[in-house]
Amino acid sequence: MSKMEVKTSLLDNMIGVGDMVLLEPLAEESFLENLKKRFDHNEIYTYIGSVVISVNPYRSLPIYSPEKVEEYRNRNFYELSPHIFSLADEAYRSLRDQDKDQCILITGESGAGKTEASKLVMSYVAAVCGKGAEVNQVKEQLLQSNPVLEAFGNAKTVRNDNSSRFGKYMDIEFDFKGDPLGGVISNYLLEKSRVVKQPRGERNFHVFYQLLSGAPDDMLKKLNLERDFSKYNYLGLDSATVNGVDDAANFRTVRNAMQIVGFMDDETQSVLEVVSAVLKLGNIEFKPESRVNGLDESRVKDKNELKEICELIGIEQTVLERAFSFRTVEAKQEKVSTTLNVAQAYYARDALAKNLYSRLFSWLVNRINESIKAQTKTRKKVMGVLDIYGFEIFEDNSFEQFIINYCNEKLQQIFIELTLREEQEEYIREGIEWTHIDYFNNAIICDLIENNTNGILAMLDEECLRPGTVSDETFLEKLNQICAGHEHFESRMSKNSKFLNDHTLPHNCFRIQHYAGKVLYRVEGFVDKNNDLLYRDLSQAMWKASHNLVKSLFPDGNPTKINLKRPPTAGFQFKASVATLMKNLLTKNPNYIRCIKPNDKKAAHIFTDSLVCHQVRYLGLMENVRVRRAGYAFRQTYEPCLERYKMLCKQTWPHWRGPAREGVEVLLKDLQIPREEYSYGRSKIFIRNPRTLFHLEDQRKQRLQDLAALIQKIYRGWKCRTRFLLMKRSQITVAAWYRRYAQQKKYQRIKSSAIVVQSYIRGWKSRKILRELKYQKRCTEAVTTIAAYWHGTQARMELRHLKEEARNKRAVTVIWACWLGTKVRRDYRKFFRANAGKKIYEFTIQRIMQKYFLELKNKMPSMSPIDKTWPARPYLFLEATHTELRRIFHLWRCKKYRDLFTEQKKAIYDEKLEASEMFKDKKALYPSSVGQPFQGDYLEISKNPKYQKLSTLVEEKIILADIVNKINRANGKGAPRIFLLTKNSFLLADQKSGQIKSSVPLSDLTSASMSAQTDGFFAVRVKEGTPAAAKGDFLLSSDRLIEIVTKLYRTCLSSTKEKINIEISDEFLVQFKQDKVCVKFVQGSPKNGSVAACKRKNNRLLEVAVPSP
Ligand SMILES: Nc1ncnc2c1ncn2[C@@H]1O[C@H](COP(=O)(O)OP(=O)(O)O)[C@@H](O)[C@H]1O
Ligand SMILES: [Mg+2]
Repeated sequence: MSKMEVKTSLLDNMIGVGDMVLLEPLAEESFLENLKKRFDHNEIYTYIGSVVISVNPYRSLPIYSPEKVEEYRNRNFYELSPHIFSLADEAYRSLRDQDKDQCILITGESGAGKTEASKLVMSYVAAVCGKGAEVNQVKEQLLQSNPVLEAFGNAKTVRNDNSSRFGKYMDIEFDFKGDPLGGVISNYLLEKSRVVKQPRGERNFHVFYQLLSGAPDDMLKKLNLERDFSKYNYLGLDSATVNGVDDAANFRTVRNAMQIVGFMDDETQSVLEVVSAVLKLGNIEFKPESRVNGLDESRVKDKNELKEICELIGIEQTVLERAFSFRTVEAKQEKVSTTLNVAQAYYARDALAKNLYSRLFSWLVNRINESIKAQTKTRKKVMGVLDIYGFEIFEDNSFEQFIINYCNEKLQQIFIELTLREEQEEYIREGIEWTHIDYFNNAIICDLIENNTNGILAMLDEECLRPGTVSDETFLEKLNQICAGHEHFESRMSKNSKFLNDHTLPHNCFRIQHYAGKVLYRVEGFVDKNNDLLYRDLSQAMWKASHNLVKSLFPDGNPTKINLKRPPTAGFQFKASVATLMKNLLTKNPNYIRCIKPNDKKAAHIFTDSLVCHQVRYLGLMENVRVRRAGYAFRQTYEPCLERYKMLCKQTWPHWRGPAREGVEVLLKDLQIPREEYSYGRSKIFIRNPRTLFHLEDQRKQRLQDLAALIQKIYRGWKCRTRFLLMKRSQITVAAWYRRYAQQKKYQRIKSSAIVVQSYIRGWKSRKILRELKYQKRCTEAVTTIAAYWHGTQARMELRHLKEEARNKRAVTVIWACWLGTKVRRDYRKFFRANAGKKIYEFTIQRIMQKYFLELKNKMPSMSPIDKTWPARPYLFLEATHTELRRIFHLWRCKKYRDLFTEQKKAIYDEKLEASEMFKDKKALYPSSVGQPFQGDYLEISKNPKYQKLSTLVEEKIILADIVNKINRANGKGAPRIFLLTKNSFLLADQKSGQIKSSVPLSDLTSASMSAQTDGFFAVRVKEGTPAAAKGDFLLSSDRLIEIVTKLYRTCLSSTKEKINIEISDEFLVQFKQDKVCVKFVQGSPKNGSVAACKRKNNRLLEVAVPSP
């Protein structure tokens, strides 16, 4: 254990007392109260010294987890609160480390938790012992042997849903390292009567129910079984299913366990076949049949069932049938066969079933042993676990209870013997004086039962073997004779007169005062059960079976090995096996687990005082405590004792340097504990009275509180101081940082001030130097300037001087020249005036003209006749010339332009010119026509196939062809017409058909009228008296009015040499047949936009609205 780990003790956080030895005062009431208190707090384990009392909680508690295993692993027994693991750990460690074989004896009544305890011990040991593949397999096999044995050997009883109906002792074998090697299981006295009959509310062995509900259909069919429990006489019906137990699932678990343990598939099959055979045996029924000789005989009622059983175990049907009908008694070469009556046949049947089953069970145990036995021959360490049925006191107790209670009696004996022996040994070991302890020794009861000459068992055997009529009554009589004097034997008919009037004691019973209480046994069946008779015919029949397993179960049926001696009785066998067991246990170091059942209801949280009290009594627990406390109640090795109490004395606290024993001595002396209260052993201190221990505990608790306060105080002081120191350190750090910061600031301020001052000084100094330099510079500049000025003055004086000189010189020259000129002019005046003027004038004029023409040549305008530019006149005197030149140039230019014209173009321009003369400034439509070339034939009549007929009618050359609107005089609306103009006539034709509507020779035309506006209306007048005049004038409209009218005018002129009259007026008259209608043009805005619209106003008036421009 590491130094840091806190050492705990059983004494810590105790509920009640964890060890009954410490009970104060010691009495049955306080004992029970302590158990109850602990039970109520889920503390189901309590010690008596090294014995563990376990109270069945009847519910799963969270105290078996792997963490708990770890907690209890390698810890001292008294270190932690009581637990079964603690005992298991102690046992395992002393087995491993001290080489002591161990046995764990678990006792208690049915349902007290023995089997659970044994499993817990095994699983704990499995968890803490070695690991590894091989070891794990061994462990697994050992653990898995439990479910198999439980299936075949456990049953539901009124006390326990999973009650073991056999005693079991299992030796687990370990190697020197503590790794498990294997095991050996011994079984004791299976309660085989259960196979054929179960008390009310109980069941047969689990395996029957598991097989029927868990086996798959095909398996059941093979075994000739049906799922329905009620089909089988051997299965008690009233509690066929158990709450919370899943038989089907358990069947799978069992098969799986069998596989793990090492059963071959065919072995498992054989086992199940035997189980089915047993089950089916119960269904065989017999009927009486009277024979002639007066003897009763029986017959099997339904042969079918018999046949199936025979098939199952491979027996000839007749053989088995005969075995149920006859009984052969052999004695010294003599064979006597008697028939069986119905009752005997049933007896034989049940005996066979019981034997078959119990032999199968023994076979199973042996088979398991074979699997789990250790493989090595080396020396092994052994841990035995004994889970044996507890003391049983029923209303009706029979042979089984007698045997069981005998066994418990023996166990109690070795318990007393071993505890006392151990106690005594310890005293001797520790060198403490041994004081005698008063306790009840049950050896006397054991003797009453097992004594070889006059013990009850011996007498029973004698009775069974005795020739002559033997019955249970004769057996009781014998008992009455022989045991009457025994102080633990009571019987009504005994010689002891004090029971003569005891009505609680029926006549057919005897009573034994067991150590655990008085038990009344009914003698009925004792002889039979002890005989455990199976008629030889039956065992021989079984031996004949072809089923290997069945055959091997009945070796006594082998006729060649016939043993005429009676087989040993059940009592004898049991006594022998108990004796071996006891011998075995005595060689081992015992560990006790004493199980207590808290209530009869299998319910959690219920603690029935009377029931527990009874168990406490018969388990002899009070005695146990007394024995343990005889002399000294408490003992402990010196080291943990010193460790626990060292704080109670100044010399030992906090460290004791010397040996632990001396430390304890000092301690106890210091505490002034009376000398008679304790004793020093070699390695342990013995304390006589629990009171002393509790006194120590109380003081320790008080001291611990003080110590805690002290630790708290020191810790708080330490904490405060650390905090203070930390704060102080922090303060210094903060202050340092602050100072640094402040100094830094100050330094920076000084530095910047210094820089300012410095800069001022430097500036001042620099300015001073600058001033000086400037002054120097100015001085030099002044000098230069002065020098310059001086030089300048000098130079200017010089210049003035020179200029004056030059002026004087020129003045002289000018004056000279003037004088000379005046002189010359005066001399030449008379010659010049006569000739020079005229010549100069001519020359000048010539020069000017030359210049004018050259300039004009360069500034000549373009050759376009419409270009109006002309260079400006340079001299007024050239006005006339200039205008004339301009005219000449224009004419020349026009001629040049005209010379470029072709004949055709000339004609076009002629026409355009004609139009211009006619309409320019007269009709507002004219300007828009200027840009449009006059094409004449717009319709291309000759080419257009549509007008082919028209073109053939008009032979002459077409001058103009266009679509015009002919205005209807009735309503003023226009209708499109083809307008054709030839050299001699003009025609109007239908636009669609090309049919000629009217044709007028040009000579018949007089005039054409139109408005001065932008419209295209025009009237063509016909001469009066001509054929055409009958129809009247034409009022037409066309956008190409200008072209049409021009061409009409020119064509008329050229063909008739007469001019037609062109009338341009906003109001003219038109002759329509007889009427004259006035066409009047007004300015307006007709609805249809920019097109002129004609409208009839009245009979005499057509009004044309022309959109204002
Ligand atoms: N330690 C335990 N924790 C929880 N339940 C227990 C414990 N011991 C026993 N039981 C319950 O009590 C029942 C009977 O226990 P069992 O060991 O079969 O009794 P016994 O073998 O003494 O007849 C178990 O089936 C189980 O339900
Ligand atoms: Mg059990």
